[in-house]
Amino acid sequence: MTILGIETSCDETSASVITANSSDQKVKVLSNVIASSLSLHSKTGGIIPEIAAREQIKYIIPVVKQSLIESNLYPLSSKINLLSSTVYRPNIDAIAVTVGPGLIGSLLVGVETAKTLSFAWNKPLIPVNHLIGHIYANFISENPKLNTKRLTLNADVEFPAIVLVVSGGHTDLLLMKDHPPAGGLKWLGGTRDDAAGEAFDKIARLINLPYPGGPAIEKAAKEGNPKAFNFPRPMIGSNDLDFSFSGLKTAVLREVKTIKQLNNETIANISASVQQAIIDVLVSKTLKTAEKYQVKSILLSGGVSANQKLRDEFKLKIENLKLKIALSVPPKNLCTDNGAMIAAAAFFNYKPVPWQKITANPELYFK
Ligand code: KG4
Ligand code: ZN
Repeated sequence: MTILGIETSCDETSASVITANSSDQKVKVLSNVIASSLSLHSKTGGIIPEIAAREQIKYIIPVVKQSLIESNLYPLSSKINLLSSTVYRPNIDAIAVTVGPGLIGSLLVGVETAKTLSFAWNKPLIPVNHLIGHIYANFISENPKLNTKRLTLNADVEFPAIVLVVSGGHTDLLLMKDHPPAGGLKWLGGTRDDAAGEAFDKIARLINLPYPGGPAIEKAAKEGNPKAFNFPRPMIGSNDLDFSFSGLKTAVLREVKTIKQLNNETIANISASVQQAIIDVLVSKTLKTAEKYQVKSILLSGGVSANQKLRDEFKLKIENLKLKIALSVPPKNLCTDNGAMIAAAAFFNYKPVPWQKITANPELYFK
């Protein structure tokens, strides 16, 4: 089965073609094209939704076309219009598109494009929840173009699994007993205020680092001491499976106000200390949950799981505690938003919906 996946929930515009085999369930990426308006947002310290959506309108058709070209599904020399269904219809089985959660203007660009292509090419259309898409970056087995592999510790993914979704807008723990249509996903807990990625982004702004804050803090933290500041580890010992990161942001703000001039050394120390505080909470709560539910695997997903220190600490703790739990982390370039994960989610949860019934839903969630 060959699926074109389209993702436009935030500032990225991505289209990808995957092939997947029903017998061995191996997913292979043929192309994964990503255009980003990030440079326009790094100056403003955050995403301006209107600017993101306007850029996506410009990018979407060239990005879809490029992904088809790279998958040998569109003749490079051809001048044919992508939408002239009488002369062009790619050899794909279905189209998958992110329908939510996300920014409404951005989602609409992807959803309306996917609906148009579904109609023009007469291909089934599968609506995908963006957060479930992130989880499926763990189920992509071959990514030859990017030459990166999923990192697995102990064994391959086996169910039941605990999933940690850590993105710019979400921090959630889920129990995954099987692929959603069969076993379903059970939401266990999530953030009560800021998401982990949001904390990185907001704290970066406080210490004069650019957007997105996660990679900027990770880079600065390399030169810093994680013990320089004793920032709080919110809710690390609470009995529930919830998170809270807004107090951490306030603690950093309080500290920054006492500092006369933020030099590189202080920025590096704050970065290392904040990063450590976030990682401690994420690792501790996820492992506690995994033990409680006696799962076989832990799956990390979402933009924050690109953080090398987070990946290393999960690995180290699992080894030190001699836990018989497989750890799966997508390759870094599949942790942040991309079309391949959306196409992969559609393969494992193949539920086409008539295009007339598909709408963007910015508030879509797990519960
Ligand atoms: O999943 P994603 O690409 O988009 C959303 O669905 O939100 O996640 C973006 C988030 C941003 O908050 C960004 O700061 C964070 O992921 N992020 C990181 C790293 N790379 C991206 N956080 C920590 N370390 C990183 N290396
Ligand atoms: Zn995302």
